[in-house]
Amino acid sequence: MKLLVTGGAGFIGTNFVRQTLSEHPQDEILVLDKLGYAGKAENLAGLERCRLVVGDILDKDLVFDLAKDVDAIVHFAAESHNDNSLLNPDLFVQTNVVGTVHILEACREYKVRLHHISTDEVFGDLALDDPQKFTRLSPYKPSSPYSASKAAADMMVRAWVRSFGVFASISNCSNNYGPYQHVEKFIPRMITNRFLGVRPRVYGTGQNVRDWIHVDDHNHAVYKILETGKPGETYLLGANGELSNLEVVRMLNKLMGYEEDDYELVSDRAGHDRRYAIDARESYRELDWTPEYTNFELGLSSVITWYKNHPEFWEADKAQVEAQYKMQGK
Ligand code: NAD
Ligand code: DAU
Repeated sequence: MKLLVTGGAGFIGTNFVRQTLSEHPQDEILVLDKLGYAGKAENLAGLERCRLVVGDILDKDLVFDLAKDVDAIVHFAAESHNDNSLLNPDLFVQTNVVGTVHILEACREYKVRLHHISTDEVFGDLALDDPQKFTRLSPYKPSSPYSASKAAADMMVRAWVRSFGVFASISNCSNNYGPYQHVEKFIPRMITNRFLGVRPRVYGTGQNVRDWIHVDDHNHAVYKILETGKPGETYLLGANGELSNLEVVRMLNKLMGYEEDDYELVSDRAGHDRRYAIDARESYRELDWTPEYTNFELGLSSVITWYKNHPEFWEADKAQVEAQYKMQGK
């Protein structure tokens, strides 16, 4: 396949490009990424069968130009951080909603297949003791400007499938962890804090639960959807990885040689979702896919090692990220 991967220089996109090129030697990839604060050209440096076009999905002419010659588009590009969406919601609506419409219009024009990457956050949050996880039938109930913009984008995809017959699928995945994640996010922030002698900073009471999946497992599922996914279908992706933020911090402290309770509680995120949990059984069955990283502690340990060995990936961003968090009391 010849793929156009939007956002391919960010966290999940970079891992997708690297994994796909290594496991599918016949594939070629064109990456469209504006190289915003979370995207780095160096992530893709030296990769064969991969070309990076630096540009914005809000540039409709550019999107159309690139879409013309590909077999499929995998659409990762987005503003992805909840905390930032509370500071600058407009940008999230522009990129995540309007940008997705540009991709859809290009797919309509050139009859290109689309896979749209979405999030479990579109379903809002669950009570800590709710026995019913998110399924395909869960109502959309987003909480933050970020998750609302992703929910709106999903609705656009559905409308373009129904009204214009665009061949598009959607996946809603849970929290990813792995290499190349920006230091603004929870796990990389805690790991790099520890390297710099700063205690992990946990929002609120730390009881909030996230459902962790290794980024390689997410990306294997995305490729399976490209191969066998149905038009108009939604795939929920998760790895039964529910852990409270405090459980993650304690594990990380132990792995890095600190007292488990050596962390700091800081002010909470506005509208902070309590719990996400994905019921992915239908996707396991329909895609013939199951996550390979079943031991979170082992996965986390390998991520700690990756950040230790790749200071060039995060050091330049760290001070500015922390200065912004400090202004927010975090
Ligand atoms: P990221 O912020 O690390 O990467 C996003 C990439 O998109 C960056 O390289 C950025 O430069 C690029 N980008 C942003 N705006 C752009 C624009 N207007 N034009 C072109 N490129 C642009 O995010 P991520 O964590 O890799 O998330 C990728 C996708 O996966 C997003 O759609 C996100 O909503 C979704 N998702 C993320 C997670 C997670 O846990 N990180 C889970 C589920 C779904
Ligand atoms: O569920 C999928 C979503 O996961 C994706 O759609 C988003 O793009 C991705 O950013 C992620 O969203 P979260 O808001 O869950 O991730 P974040 O890493 O920002 O935070 C994870 C949890 O940790 C959350 O409960 C907030 C908390 N947190 C975060 C930071 C940065 C802390 O306690 N301390 C921190 O310093």
